[in-house]
Amino acid sequence: MNWEKIVSVMTEAVYSASEVIKDGLFRNGNIVFEHKLTHDYVTETDKKSEEIITAILKQAYPDDVIIGEESFDDEELPEGSFWVVDPLDGTTNFIHGFPMVSVTVARIEQGAPVAGCVYNPVTDELFIGVRRGGVYLNGKQIIKSNSVPDVAHSLVATGFPFRRKDLIRPYLKTFEEIFRQVSDIRRTGSAALDLAYLAAGRIDGFWEVGLKPWDIAAGILMIEELGGVVSDFWGSKGVLKNGNIIATSSQVLYEVIYNAVRSNLLPHMR
Ligand code: IPD
Ligand code: CA
Ligand code: CA
Repeated sequence: MNWEKIVSVMTEAVYSASEVIKDGLFRNGNIVFEHKLTHDYVTETDKKSEEIITAILKQAYPDDVIIGEESFDDEELPEGSFWVVDPLDGTTNFIHGFPMVSVTVARIEQGAPVAGCVYNPVTDELFIGVRRGGVYLNGKQIIKSNSVPDVAHSLVATGFPFRRKDLIRPYLKTFEEIFRQVSDIRRTGSAALDLAYLAAGRIDGFWEVGLKPWDIAAGILMIEELGGVVSDFWGSKGVLKNGNIIATSSQVLYEVIYNAVRSNLLPHMR
């Protein structure tokens, strides 16, 4: 694999796509949106961004399979190698002009991410990781996440189960159990950014129900590359497929989140 080419193509793709996102975010007008599912939205910007990224990936890798959030209508991921693309992570934020969004692209091989990037067009921060090649923030290598080792001082992020509001009670019990043990909890509205921030040591842990491979592939790669812990809610490696993710920078915080999820949420998961 030519990793330099992969990194430069991913970078070009997310930089180019983010131009339409910045246009929309700072236009100061009403954003027109459609409902995909309950509380799940799509805008023209999501679609345009995906077209731009897909065109750039296709030009560089004409034979590769590209799975973009707005065009993928299958249930199952393919076998072998492919790309996953979230053209705008944080669409609900985007619609409201809440400036916390990202664009993310990752390459999967044999069921695991091997390269990925997350770009925040608002702060102009590009997180890139390559399996056994390191993780970089705007070209500067992140050596080791400078996260807080002590659970009581740790900062955790989460996503609320807005597509599964039936889970709110067990979710809130999980939240309470974790909240009582850590310093504080954040909800950014972009799971890809949450995971990139975890890799960079800005937060120490994260959990969310029912994410998609394009939300999490790049972040999983970066966290694992820096020695963090990632699993699904059952403590195994199926997270890219089932999207129920726990990720932390330390084993001790992992146990806290895993135990809270196992005793409160797991009995209600189908
Ligand atoms: C969403 C964001 C959000 C998370 C949702 C995702 P989208 O992605 O990552 O933080 O809570 O579960 O679906 O729909 O804005 O691409
Ligand atoms: Ca997303
Ligand atoms: Ca999206």
